[in-house]
Amino acid sequence: MHRSPWPRGAPGAQRVWSACLLLSSIPFWCLLLLPDGAQKLRWASRPFFAAWQEPPQRTHSAAGNSAHQGVDFGPLQPHCEPGQVLLILVTSAPGNAASRQVIRRTWAAREKPPPYQWQVVFLIGQSPGEGASRQIRQEQEDFGDVLVGNYLDTYRNLTLKVLHGVRWALSRCRPSYLLKTDDDCFVNTERLPEFLARQNPLRTGLYAGSVFAREKRKVIRHPSSKWYVPREAYSPEEYPPYASGIGYVLSLDAAARVLRAAESVPIIPVEDAYVGILAQRAGLRPKSSARFAKQNARWRVCNFRYLMVVHSLGAPEQELATRRMREARHACRDRPEVTRW
Ligand SMILES: *[C@@H]1O[C@H](CO)[C@@H](O)[C@H](O)[C@H]1NC(C)=O
Repeated sequence: MHRSPWPRGAPGAQRVWSACLLLSSIPFWCLLLLPDGAQKLRWASRPFFAAWQEPPQRTHSAAGNSAHQGVDFGPLQPHCEPGQVLLILVTSAPGNAASRQVIRRTWAAREKPPPYQWQVVFLIGQSPGEGASRQIRQEQEDFGDVLVGNYLDTYRNLTLKVLHGVRWALSRCRPSYLLKTDDDCFVNTERLPEFLARQNPLRTGLYAGSVFAREKRKVIRHPSSKWYVPREAYSPEEYPPYASGIGYVLSLDAAARVLRAAESVPIIPVEDAYVGILAQRAGLRPKSSARFAKQNARWRVCNFRYLMVVHSLGAPEQELATRRMREARHACRDRPEVTRW
């Protein structure tokens, strides 16, 4: 883990810093003496999200680079193995420690080293008043699977949360595929990494999930709604086709294209619709698949040969789904395997 706030390879940075501490009562200014210090300071003094709210200034050629610039991911980030098939980004709130614990001991638990590498990372924001709480720091120390972003953890900031996670994934991990999901969802970790590595027919430009029908894509204009979006933020009355936030898979190239589009599309608080807008801008077509289930409908063992994400599970249901997923490894062998999305 890279805990030092200094850029890697800055020669003698530690020594300059120690000297500054000794000689100066205002170590703040010492930052300016360090290589790249002034830039760090500028970024430290403005919140991460500001980058998304400014009008686009970057030229297209600089765009590829900007996914790596200006974001200090801080010490609260997981270790990431390069060369993974799948990185699972789970949006979670600081107070949802119980849901995270359930996930860690159910579908995120490994019985043995998996044949197709995957990893789970929880995306969490700052708690009001205290930044990342002591409890989150402890969780990161114990499990190393928490990515804390520099944004306030509120429902209306969910879009920032996901952009931050995708940005981190692209600059630190670069898995072949990303899955964005929530902490009340089940993910079929027995099948999804293998399916992606072996059968998935769409190796690039992939954006797959449960795509909303047209009548479910109206922009909500009631200010009291959780999904309220004012006309100034997004003027069309309907969103383009987009995959439900319960779970969608992006190939690495698709994630990079989505992130690049975010530089020129004003942010809206409806995370999954925003990703749909970005995908459309990037020329990606969402692939709708029944492998992503919005309802938990007492799925049977054999369903877990096919289902990849199921939404709306409490703790006992996560346990049950995980048991069935593991049983499906050997059961239902007589059924033909579905190899399409
Ligand atoms: C989102 O996070 C930023 C940065 O912490 C904060 O200033 C802002 O109030 C948050 N927005 C909402 C809608 O919660």
